[in-house]
Amino acid sequence: KEITNEELYRPNFHFTPKTGWMNDPNGMFFYKGLYHLYFQYYPDDTVWGPMHWGHATSTDMITWNEEKIALYPDEMGYIFSGSAVVDVNNTSGFGSLENPPIIAMFTYHNMEKEKAGEIKTQSQAIAYSLDEGMTWTKYEANPVIENPNIKDFRDPKMSWDPIHKQWLMVLAAGDRTMFYTSKNLKEWTLQSDFGSDIGAHGGVWECPDFFPIKIEGSTKTKWVLLQSINPGGPNGGSATQYFVGDFNGKTFSITDSFANDLKQQKALWIDFGKDNYAGVTWSNIPDTDGRKLFMGWMSNWEYANEVPTEKWRSAMTIPRELKLFSKKGKYRVYTLPVRELSKYVSKTIKIKTLSVKSETTIAKAPSIDLTAADISFTLEDLKEDIYLFKLHNLKGEFIEFGLNNKEHFFFIDRSKSGKTTFSEKFASGISKVKSDDLLSQLEVRLIIDKNSIEVFYNNGETVMTELFFSNAPMNEFSMKTEKYTSTIKNITINQLKLTK
Ligand code: FRU
Repeated sequence: KEITNEELYRPNFHFTPKTGWMNDPNGMFFYKGLYHLYFQYYPDDTVWGPMHWGHATSTDMITWNEEKIALYPDEMGYIFSGSAVVDVNNTSGFGSLENPPIIAMFTYHNMEKEKAGEIKTQSQAIAYSLDEGMTWTKYEANPVIENPNIKDFRDPKMSWDPIHKQWLMVLAAGDRTMFYTSKNLKEWTLQSDFGSDIGAHGGVWECPDFFPIKIEGSTKTKWVLLQSINPGGPNGGSATQYFVGDFNGKTFSITDSFANDLKQQKALWIDFGKDNYAGVTWSNIPDTDGRKLFMGWMSNWEYANEVPTEKWRSAMTIPRELKLFSKKGKYRVYTLPVRELSKYVSKTIKIKTLSVKSETTIAKAPSIDLTAADISFTLEDLKEDIYLFKLHNLKGEFIEFGLNNKEHFFFIDRSKSGKTTFSEKFASGISKVKSDDLLSQLEVRLIIDKNSIEVFYNNGETVMTELFFSNAPMNEFSMKTEKYTSTIKNITINQLKLTK
């Protein structure tokens, strides 16, 4: 019996809509035990079209229930990306203290104006929900922010600024981020802009996010600006860069050491793989939790419309926790899968040490199903060598990745991973990111689903997320080196199983 498209590509534990097209995560907030996820959605086709906000809820960000469509396009335009906050003190007046309203802000994109060649096609609008995010009413006085004559003016990300006690909103305006503040979520004041002369500028800036975050192991706080860009990512197409700095309630300025970093690196990226875009964080996470919880769209505008899934298109990344580290004066945002994933471990295999030179199997079906696995291990005493990992199937298809410790880069090569020709861009090159000169130790964590691999090196310091579309499930994971015998330590192979 032929394996169906659904069986082959519907992820085991990454969110996908049941049918239709999906892109960016939108309006993510946490309230009364539920994580809400809205998303750019076109229910009537599997390619991008008139944008709606789809909706899903979860108690743990891993198992999702798809809910009714939250926002439909109307005569003012398509509903582009945006955010949502819980208006706990009813500052907007849309609800009450007993039943705080949820406020969403999104971008209206007006197609008629675009067709007429007008510049002012995008404006910001709000909607409110009085039933904890399940149904929404658009504000009658929309838009709340008119277009200031900037073509790309979109993706408002609101948050409560706990330090300056104000509502904050960042949006992307062409080649920069704009910062707004508000007292009531309806009237917004432009305070400043950032970025036209710094960071990556190979494309349009989209989907920013901005929040304070503690430096790990310190009591100090810095502000992080996430700023997606398309195209212009480190391995082509869409990707998310970030900046670390300070915020005085009005203006964001990057820290000197970070500015120095940027002179060398040009930009720093949340993920160096090709398939993590437009990611932002959940709002209203309680202080008692305190995590910065992030999720991205696991695709790339270079080929998102062409990937070979049939009933639906696109999945989200595994939800991740962001942490800020300062090491030797350098700031880095680390990301790792959220701990909630461990609830779904159905079986664990541990291997203390494994010696590797020629190709050696680490995990194999049927004892481990490699379409739902969370694998971690450590490599020590690394030499000037190539450390090559391979995920393969019975059809001889494979995705290769690892560390080139001779030329100092991490890489992913999906050119022989199965279906690749649906788009010229999908496997046109090997994704690479520079590693430190001669690494002596490497920690690896892998999240493997049916058609995606998320690689976290050194506790999330360097991350690479990529899709693949093999013609049979991957069934074996192995490793080899080019020259020296190497020892893999503390291998933990976690089988994941969703009970749904
Ligand atoms: C990013 C993006 C946003 C826009 C949305 C439209 O992927 O281009 O800037 O709001 O997608 O669907």
